[in-house]
Amino acid sequence: MGNVKIGALTLRHGLMLAPMAGVTDASFRAICRQAGAEYTVSEMISAKALCFEQKGRDSAPAKTAALATIREADAPMAIQLFGSEPDFMREAALLIEAGSYRGAVKGPAPAAIDINMGCPVAKVVSNGEGSALMRDPTRAAAIVSAVKSAVKLPVTVKIRAGWDEQHKNAVEFAKRMEEAGADLICVHGRTRQQFYAPKSDNGVIAAVKAAVSVPVIGNGDIFTPDDALHMLSDTGCDGVMIARGALGNPFLFTALTARLQNTPYTPPTVRQRIETALAHAADMIEKKGARIGVAEARKHMAWYCHGLRGAAAARGALMHAESLIEFTNILGALVRDEETL
Ligand SMILES: Cc1cc2nc3c(=O)[nH]c(=O)nc-3n(C[C@H](O)[C@H](O)[C@H](O)COP(=O)(O)O)c2cc1C
Repeated sequence: MGNVKIGALTLRHGLMLAPMAGVTDASFRAICRQAGAEYTVSEMISAKALCFEQKGRDSAPAKTAALATIREADAPMAIQLFGSEPDFMREAALLIEAGSYRGAVKGPAPAAIDINMGCPVAKVVSNGEGSALMRDPTRAAAIVSAVKSAVKLPVTVKIRAGWDEQHKNAVEFAKRMEEAGADLICVHGRTRQQFYAPKSDNGVIAAVKAAVSVPVIGNGDIFTPDDALHMLSDTGCDGVMIARGALGNPFLFTALTARLQNTPYTPPTVRQRIETALAHAADMIEKKGARIGVAEARKHMAWYCHGLRGAAAARGALMHAESLIEFTNILGALVRDEETL
C-alpha cells in the first residue's frame, strides 16, 4: 500500500469509504472523512434518471441531483453512476462534470466518475445494470470508453469477482475495462450470486492486481484493521474500500490509519462513541429535515450500539424514536449503564 493516484489526486494510503445506497449520505461521508477515510463515493445514481430529470419542470424537486452534491467535508468524492446504455452514461457524466444539471449545488469538483458494475439487486440487474454488466463485457467496455472520451475526469469502475462461481471473469473483465480507459478498478471479491456472503475471496483481487497496471482497490469483509492488512498483503492491492465495517464504526478508519502509520491509537470510550452517533443524527436532521432525518438516522443509531450492554432493547426503542431528544435519551441510558459498571 502506498500512494494511490487518481487523476491529479494522490491518496496516501488509498483508504476509501465504499458507496452504500441509503447509508453513505453526506453526513456519514463527512464523519468517515473526519475519522480518516481519504476518499468517498456517492450513493449510486441512475444515469437515466439524472438525464430525464433535466427535462422535468423547474419546480419539481431534483431528487437524483441531490445525491450528487459534494461538500468540502466529504471531498475528495467520486460520483457513482449506474446504467446500461453508453449514451445515457456519457450524457450523465457530462452533466456531473459540468455541474450544470437541475438542482446542482456549487461545491468541490468530483474526484472521478465511478461506474457501478457490482450491484446485485434484482431490479437493477434485470435492466442490464450493475453486476449484469459483468455478463456483457462488450457493453461494459462501450460504457467506459463512452464516458472516458467525453469527460476529463478520471473514470473508475467497481466490479465483483464475476456473475457466479462458473463465471468468475474479473481478471479478463478488468483487463477489458483498463483497455477501454478505466483509471482505477475496485474489486469486491464476491460474485453477484453471492450477494454479501459467504466470505469475500482475496484471491480474485490478487489476480486482478497482477493483471492490470492501473491502481486496484480491494473490497470485501474488512471489519478490523487486521482484515485490511491481510487484504493488502494477500493481494498486493493499492488501497482498500470499506463498506459494512464502517456502519456505526467510522472509528475503523482512525484505527486503520494509526496501524498503517505506526502511531498509537486509543479506541473511543462508550461516551465518545455515543457522542459521535448523536452528532451524526443531528447532522442528518439538519441536512434532511426532522421527519426524513430521524427516519433515516434510526438504523445508524442502532449500528452505533453494537456490542454495548443493553443494545438489543435500545435498538427496539430506537426504531420507534421520533426525535433527536428520544435518540439522546435512549443512547444516554446506555452510556450511563456502561459507566456505572
Ligand atoms: C446497504 C448497502 C448498499 C450498497 N450500495 C452500493 C452502491 O450504491 N454502489 C456500489 O457500488 N456498491 C454498493 N454496495 C456494496 C458495497 O459498496 C461493497 O462493495 C460491499 O458491501 C462489500 O464490502 P464490505 O464487505 O466492506 O461491506 C452496497 C452495500 C450495502 C451493504
